[in-house]
Amino acid sequence: MRPALLEVLRCPVCSSELAVDGDELACGSCGGRFSVEDGVPRMLDDRLPGIAEKRRELEAWPEKARAEGWYGEDDSTDLLLPSVPWDDPTWSANEHSFNLLLKRHVRPGLRVLEVGAARCWGALHLVPRGVEYVATDILADPVIGLGRGAFYERHVGPFERVQADGENLPFAPGSFDLVYCVASLHHALDPHRMVKEMARVARRGGVVAALNEGTRAPGASEDNPQQESEKAYGINEHVHTVWSYVGAFLAARIAITRLEQAEGYDVIGQRRRLRHVLRVPLVGRTAATLLTQNLSEYSGITIFGRKVV
Ligand SMILES: C[S@@+](CC[C@H](N)C(=O)[O-])C[C@H]1O[C@@H](n2cnc3c(N)ncnc32)[C@H](O)[C@@H]1O
Ligand SMILES: [Zn+2]
Repeated sequence: MRPALLEVLRCPVCSSELAVDGDELACGSCGGRFSVEDGVPRMLDDRLPGIAEKRRELEAWPEKARAEGWYGEDDSTDLLLPSVPWDDPTWSANEHSFNLLLKRHVRPGLRVLEVGAARCWGALHLVPRGVEYVATDILADPVIGLGRGAFYERHVGPFERVQADGENLPFAPGSFDLVYCVASLHHALDPHRMVKEMARVARRGGVVAALNEGTRAPGASEDNPQQESEKAYGINEHVHTVWSYVGAFLAARIAITRLEQAEGYDVIGQRRRLRHVLRVPLVGRTAATLLTQNLSEYSGITIFGRKVV
C-alpha cells in the first residue's frame, strides 16, 4: 500500500482518518481495526449494514465457481478480458461498454476507482494508460477476486486493491476523477446508497458510470430466471428497471450524459422499427434505448454521468 492510498483511505464505519498501527489500520474515533493482507487493506467491518448478506455472497462466489468448474487460473483468458474467445452476451456487453469508458473518459493521470472489480481485469487497460487505478470488491479471493490482481500487477505494474463494500466506501469525499462499476451495482442491497457513495468519492465534475447492469421492463418479474442459480448460492442478485437506475443517479446529483444499451446498437438495429428510431438525429439512440428497455423483458443498461455538486 502506497502513502497516496493511505491519504484517501477512511474508516468505512465513521469516515475518520486512519493510522498505521503495526500490521493494521486503526480508526482513532470508533475503534475500528483493519488488517492489511498481501498489501490489500481489508475494510469490511461487522458493524456495516447488510454485512451478513455481503459476507455470505463472498463465500458463495468461490463455492459456485468450484461447483461449476470455473474456479481456476486461466492466464491466457484473463489477459484478454473483457474480451473472451467464445460467444458470451454478458462479456460482449461488458466489452462494448468498457470500450466506451476507455474512449470517452480515460486520460493519463486520472485517479480511477472501480467498485466490484473482482479479478481486477480493468487494470490491464487502465494502468498502461497512465491512470492511478484502485480496484475494490467485497471479494478478496485469490483466484476470482482481488487476490488475482497480483497476476495483473505482474503484467502491467503496480496498482491498489482494497477490500471494500461499495455501499460504504472507505474513501474521503472527492478522492477520484472517475468512479465506475461493471455488472456490480445490481448486487447492492440498496442501489441508491451505492450510487450515492460512488458520487461522494468522485470529485465535483468527475465521471460516475455503471456499465452493463442487468435491467427488466417495468412489467417484468423481479425474479429473473437467469439469476436463480446465483441466488441459490446466496449471491445478492437483483434486477431493476432503467428508471430505477436513472432515479438513483439523479438522487445522487449525477447529471446523466449518456444512456446506452449495454451491448451497443447492432442488436437492436436488426429490428426494423428500432432501426428507424436509431436514425432520428441527436435523440435517436437514447429513444431506441429507452424503447428497448421498456419492451424487452430483460436487458442491460450502461449509464454515464457527471457529479454536479
Ligand atoms: C457479476 S460480478 C462482476 C465482476 C466484475 N466487475 C467483472 O465484470 O468481471 C459482481 C461483483 O460485484 C461484487 N459485489 C457484490 N456486492 C458488492 C458490494 N456491496 N460492494 C462491492 N462489490 C460487490 C461481487 O463480489 C462480484 O465480484
Ligand atoms: Zn471509525
